[in-house]
Formats: sequence, structure tokens, C-alpha cells
Amino acid sequence: MLKKESLHGMWGSRWVFIMAATGSAVGLGNIWKFPYITGENGGGAFVLVYLICIALIGLPLMMAEVLIGRRGRQSPVNSLRDVAEESGQPKAWQAVGLLGALAGFLIFGFYSVVGGWVFSYVSEMAQGSFNGAGADQVGDAFSGMLADPKRMLIWHSIFAFASMVVLVRGVNDGLERAIRILMPALFILLLVVFGYAFSTGHMGEAFHFMFDFSPEKLTANAVLVALGHAFFTLSLGMGTMIAYGSYMTKKASIGSTALTVVVLDTLVALVAGLAIFPIVFANNMDPGAGPGLMFVTLPVAFGNMPMGQIFGFLFFVLVGIAAWTSALSLMEPSIAFVVERFNIKRPLACLVLGLAGWLLGIAALLSFNVWSDVHLLMGKGIFDTLDYVTANIMLPLGGLLIAIFAGYVMLRRFTQEELSLSEGQYQAWRITVRYIAPVLVVIVLVNQLFFS
Ligand code: PHE
Repeated sequence: MLKKESLHGMWGSRWVFIMAATGSAVGLGNIWKFPYITGENGGGAFVLVYLICIALIGLPLMMAEVLIGRRGRQSPVNSLRDVAEESGQPKAWQAVGLLGALAGFLIFGFYSVVGGWVFSYVSEMAQGSFNGAGADQVGDAFSGMLADPKRMLIWHSIFAFASMVVLVRGVNDGLERAIRILMPALFILLLVVFGYAFSTGHMGEAFHFMFDFSPEKLTANAVLVALGHAFFTLSLGMGTMIAYGSYMTKKASIGSTALTVVVLDTLVALVAGLAIFPIVFANNMDPGAGPGLMFVTLPVAFGNMPMGQIFGFLFFVLVGIAAWTSALSLMEPSIAFVVERFNIKRPLACLVLGLAGWLLGIAALLSFNVWSDVHLLMGKGIFDTLDYVTANIMLPLGGLLIAIFAGYVMLRRFTQEELSLSEGQYQAWRITVRYIAPVLVVIVLVNQLFFS
């Protein structure tokens, strides 16, 4: 009853899966969010908790998603349905896939807006707009952009269009081809920017900031942020890895493949931090500047450093590529689902979902200006509500349900067959998805919902 191949296509090799999954995982979360939440939460202590969350929850959950996808060989919705049925469980488990596809679509809405900011900074850097600029000037430029819906609309549209152009061509001609070029480019650019940061002579300071463990800085909130971020940065809890796993060959080992992706994603986040903080410190700026770290602090720094324009330009190209390959994976679950459910061609599914995602992005970008009075949840605007509801509620909830699915719903022999680990490794995996991950996620969710 289970399928051998996905109707959407199959990755050319195990490496293509690794690059695609890494492309999904490495995104704004690594280069924009991770450094600034590290800065806000005091550095070292936060990084340690983040690493623990990645190892304890991230890796086992990524394995769970990939195995469900590879077994089901369809969109997350239908994979969950068939894999549940195979174990004699209700089809209703497909609802978890729907929740995930919806989350991906909602994230795409605001992700594309931020991706648009990044693209616009690429163009500003190319023109040298920040050369010699002071913090006030760049700060004003950033708020000026937020206040200008037309400008944001243009860049958001370019970003959304760039994503759909790749997606419409399918798994092999679209995703695989783009990823084969973009991922090596991403790693090269990261090394170049890292080398530049090294040349500032402030690497030591950055290193201390990120890795000195000072327990007094560890707050309960920092732990929550770290766990939530572990989901976001690894693209977990919404079925991305189920979709990408459904295109993976039977031969590849899920454990070592997932481990490679997790390690690469974590390395990129750490190296991004080690590329950004020296530049911040070299200019005597504040590492705790929050979301403005990348859009205000860094451009000021680049604008006042030797060869800053060119390296600043390369830096934003790097961030743009990272955001782009992640955006692709945000839409893949819903596109695959719509193609299967309504039996339509991929281009039509892309058109409909792409337009809808683009409109959602417009609502999100208007919330910075024209619609700034519209408050949805807890006084948050549209953009912030989308961010909060997806990253802090939908992804952890999706992750919890997927852990329960892999740990309790699927028959043991099926997960064992799919993972083909040694008995000890399998036991360790099973204990984490059955006990450790669910308990930790419930703690985080309850805290999110009732105490924040
Ligand atoms: N992991 C991506 C990032 O770090 C975001 C993402 C989340 C992508 C969920 C796909 C699915 O930016």
C-alpha cells in the first residue's frame, strides 16, 4: 500500500537531500534571529541551552519527520494519513499535516517581507548608501523603509516571485537545481564574511561573548526562547522535513543524514554569530540591539570599515540566499498537498498558493504603517501575530504531535525498520521522542500560553 516513489519527484542523491534540508534549515533564523537573540539573552549561557535543545529535541525530531515522509512518500498531510493507517490508527492524524502546511504558509507571509528587506539591503549596499553613515542615519533609513509600504511591496513581491519561480518547476528542475548552486555559494560567502570579521582583530571578544558561560544570565525566558528557536531554525514542527524526506531514497541512513543537517545548521548559526559580533565590537556597538542588529547595527559597522561596502554587500547576498532557500521549503508542504488533494498540476497550485502568500505578506507589511492600528492577538499587529503564533505556538505544537506520532502511534517495528539503527541508538531515539521531547515541549507551550 505504501508508495515507493513520490509523484512529485525524488532527490538525485543523499547529498541533494542534505543540501536541500540544510537550505531549509539555514535561513533568517540563523543569520538574523540567532545572533540577536543571543545578544538579547546575554551570550554564552543562552548558546549553551540552545545547543542542548538542538541535540536533545532537534535531532530526534528531525529524524522523526524524515522517517514519516520517507515512509509515506507524499505531502505531510497524506503521509501522516497513510502511515497512521498502516499502524492501524485513525486517518485523523492527517490534521497534524494540515496544521503544518498552514503554519508554513503563514510563516511564508512574513518571511517574504523580511526577505524583501534583505533584498533591498543588497541593493543599498551595492549603491554604497551606508558609507560613512552614523547610527541615526541608518536607523532612520530602516524606519523609513518600514513606513513606506510601496517600497516594501516591491521588494516583498520580488522575493515572493523568486520563490515561486523555483517552486513552480518542481522538485528536480526547480528545487534541486537551485539548491545545487545556491548552497555552495552560501557556504563560500559565509567563509568570506567570516574571514573579514577575523581581520577586524575582535574575534576574541566575540568568542568570549558567545561562549563564556555565566549562569546568572540564564533566565527562564532565555530557556524558552532557546527551545522555540531550536524548532524554528531546524524547520521542525510544520512538515517541511516530512515533505523533503518524502523525496529521499530508501538507501540513505536517516540518522546520519539528519545529524549532518543538524550539525551544518548549528555550525552556520555559530559561524554567523562569530562573523557578526566582531564587526559589531570593532565599531564599539551594542550586541543587544535586538531585531535591528542586522538591519541597523551591521550596516553602520560596514559603512565605517575599510572595504565595508563590498563585504557588506556580500553579507546581504548571503542572507538573501539563506532566506530564499528557506522560503522554498515553507511552501513545499502546502503545494504538494494541494497537488495531491485537488489533483491539479503543480503550476496551478503554485499560482494559487503563491498569490495567497503574497497577499498575506502585503497584510503583514501594511501592519508597519497603514494598518499599524490593527491589533490581532495580545495587542500585536499582523506581522508580529503571524510570527508569534507560528514560531511560538504552531511549530512547538506540531513538533509535539509529530513526536507523539513517531513515538506512540507508529508501530515500533516500522520506525525501527525505517531508521535501521543499532539497538542502543534506536532506544535512545525512542526515549527522546516518547518522553524527553514531549515533556520539554509541553513545558514551553504552557509557559508561552499562560505565563508570557
Ligand atoms: N529554518 C528557517 C530559518 O532558520 C525557517 C523555517 C522554518 C523554514 C520552518 C522552513 C520551515 O530561517
